Amino acid sequence: MNKIICSDYNEVCAAAADIFAQQLSLKPSSVFGLATGSTPVGLYEELKRRCSARELDFSKAHAFNLDEYYPIEKNHPQSYKAFMDLHLFDEVKFESTQIPNGEAADPHIECARYDAAIEAAGGIDLQLLGIGINGHIGFNEPNTVYPVGSHLTELTESTLIANSRFFGEGEKQPETALTMGLGPIFNAKHILLLITGAAKAQVAKKLFDGKLYTDVPACFLLLHPNVTVILDKAASG
Ligand code: F6R
Repeated sequence: MNKIICSDYNEVCAAAADIFAQQLSLKPSSVFGLATGSTPVGLYEELKRRCSARELDFSKAHAFNLDEYYPIEKNHPQSYKAFMDLHLFDEVKFESTQIPNGEAADPHIECARYDAAIEAAGGIDLQLLGIGINGHIGFNEPNTVYPVGSHLTELTESTLIANSRFFGEGEKQPETALTMGLGPIFNAKHILLLITGAAKAQVAKKLFDGKLYTDVPACFLLLHPNVTVILDKAASG
C-alpha cells in the first residue's frame, strides 16, 4: 500500500488528478471506476479544469460508478446519476459512462448485468474509492459475510446518518443501494483511495496498524498488490 500524506484537501485532489493523468497517458481508452460522495468533488473539479485547459482528454475512456441508491429515479436530485452528471459528466465527456440502474425492475439481474459489463470492458484500470466512517468502500458495509459480486445491500445506520445531509427535510432517503461488490473492485489493476477530514482519522488509523479488521471492509485493500492511499493531514491524525 503506497501512502501519500498531503497538507490539505486541495493537495489531495491535485495528487489524485495527477494519477488520473498518468493513467490516461498510459492508456487513453482506460476504464475508470468512479465514486460519489463529498470526497471526490474537488478531484472532479480539478479534472474539469485540466480538461478545459486541454491538458486531459477522457473522450476515449470509459467510466463505471461504484454504486447507486435503489430504488431511485435517475433524475432524482440525490441519485448518483444526477451527482455524476452535475460534478463531472456534463463537462467531461467519456466514450461511455455507466452507473448501476436505480430504476431496474430486478436489482439482481441489474447487478449481474453490471458485473458482466465491467468484465466485457476488460475490467477496471484505475478504481477511485472514498471510505465511509464505518470503513465501507462502495456500499460494501461492515459485515461477517461479503458478497463477491455486485449486489443489492441494506445501508447501515451509520451510512444513513452520514448521508442524510444530502436529503432535504421530508425527502425520503433510500435505505438500500446497488453496489459493486468487492470482487470487481479488487480486480482493478490500480486502486486509489482518498481519505480526507478529521472524521475519517479513526478509520484511517485501523487501515494502517498492520491488522486486517474484517469489520472494516477497506482493510481488505491491504491484500491488493497495487493500492495508493492519499490522505490529508486531518485524516492521517
Ligand atoms: C460513494 C461511495 C461511498 C463513499 C463514502 C464516503 O460512491 O461508494 O463509499 O465513498 O461513503 O463518502 P464521503 O466522501 O461523502 O465521505
